[in-house]
Amino acid sequence: MKNTFADRMKNTRKSFIREILKVTQQPEVISFAGGLPNPGFFPVEEIASASKKVLENDGRNVLQYSTSEGYLPLREFIAERYLIKSGLKIEPDEILITNGSQQGIDLIGKVFLNKGDRVIIERPGYLGAIQAFSIFEPNFRPVPLLDDGIDTDLLDKALREDNAKLLYTIPNFQNPSGITYSGQKRKDVANILEKHNVICVEDNAYGELRFTGEDLPSIRNYLDNIILLGSFSKIISPGLRIGWICAGKEIMEKLIVVKQAADLHSNYLSQRIVNQYLMDNDIDEHIMKIRVAYGKRRDLMIDMIAEYFPKEVRYTKPEGGMFIWVTLPGRVSSMDLFELAVKENVAFVPGNPFYVYDSSRINTLRLNFSNSDEEQIEEGIKRLARCSERLLENVN
Ligand SMILES: Cc1ncc(COP(=O)(O)O)c(C=O)c1O
Repeated sequence: MKNTFADRMKNTRKSFIREILKVTQQPEVISFAGGLPNPGFFPVEEIASASKKVLENDGRNVLQYSTSEGYLPLREFIAERYLIKSGLKIEPDEILITNGSQQGIDLIGKVFLNKGDRVIIERPGYLGAIQAFSIFEPNFRPVPLLDDGIDTDLLDKALREDNAKLLYTIPNFQNPSGITYSGQKRKDVANILEKHNVICVEDNAYGELRFTGEDLPSIRNYLDNIILLGSFSKIISPGLRIGWICAGKEIMEKLIVVKQAADLHSNYLSQRIVNQYLMDNDIDEHIMKIRVAYGKRRDLMIDMIAEYFPKEVRYTKPEGGMFIWVTLPGRVSSMDLFELAVKENVAFVPGNPFYVYDSSRINTLRLNFSNSDEEQIEEGIKRLARCSERLLENVN
C-alpha cells in the first residue's frame, strides 16, 4: 500500500488528541484532554422541538438537496449578529455555511494554498488548523504568542522575510493557550497586515464564551479584507456541524466552487433545525448560562492549580473559552507528566502536537475545564499536582 498513497499524506499527522481520547474513554479517567463543550448545556428539548417543527411544517423541503451557500435566513441571522455584536456590516452573501468551521479551514486551504506556500500560525497553534492546512503541504512559520497575543515584532519580521500567503489567528481565548489578544494588539496586527499582501483568517470559535472583561473588536473592525470563521458548535451543539466562513465577494466566489466540489452543501436539515432553534429561543440567554457555568469551572481550576501545583508552574488565566495552558519548569517534559498522570487516571494534552516543528522536550500542556464537573476538577488537579511534584523532585 505504501506507494499508493498521495504524497500529501506523508506530512499529515494523525490527530494526537484523538489518540489520547482513546485512553480517556475509560470511565475511571478524569479527562482534561478533550476540547468538548459540556453536554449538560446542549439544548436537547429545544432542538427536539425545532426538529419536529421543521419536519412537520416543511418536511419535503428540509430533506431535499439545497443551495451550496446555505440557508438564507440562517445567513441573515449570522450577518445581523455580526452587526449587533461587533458593529460589522456583513451582507448575507458574504457568508457561506460550512460543515463546522473546521471545513472552513479546509476550504480556505483549497482556495489559497499551493505546495510550499508560507502559512503563519500562532505558536502554540490550533491542532485542527495545522492538520487541515498540512494537506496542502505548506511551509509553516509559527509565530509565538505572548500574554497579550501574537508577537507583533516577529509577525512583522515573518511577513517581511517570508512572503507569506496566509496568516491564521484566534484572537479570542485561543485554542490551546486560552490567550486573548489585547485591543492594542488587534490594531497592531491590522496595521502590520495592511503593509503586506497576505490573507488573514480570524477564527472566532470561542468568541461568545467570555466570562470576564469586555468584548474586544475583531481585527476586521480595523481592516476589511479579513476572512472570518464562526461556529455554532460551542454555543448550541458541535454534533449539528454548522459553522460558517465570512469573506468578501471575490473570495466567496472561489469558496463556493470548492464547497460544491467538496460536498454540494452543508447538511440542510441541520441548518433548518439551527435556524428554527434560533427563531424560537433566546440564544443570548442560553449563552449566558454556558458562560456562567464555564466561568465557575475556570475559577475553580485556577484556584486549585494555585493552591496545589508546585509554585514554579505557570499558567494562563483565560477570560473565556475552554482551555488553560500550563507551563512546567524548563527541564520538565509534559509527556513524562502525561505518562505519570495516566497511571493516576487523569489525562490532559501535552503541548507537543501544538508545535509544528520543535516538538521534542516540550514543557507545556493544555487543560480543558468545560467538560468536567467540580468534583472532577478538584480531584483531577490534586492528582496532577502530585504527579508534577514527583516529576520535579526526580529532575532536581
Ligand atoms: C479554534 C477552533 N477552530 C475551529 C474549530 C472547529 O470547530 P467546528 O468545526 O465544530 O466549528 C475548533 C474546535 O475545537 C477550534 O478549537
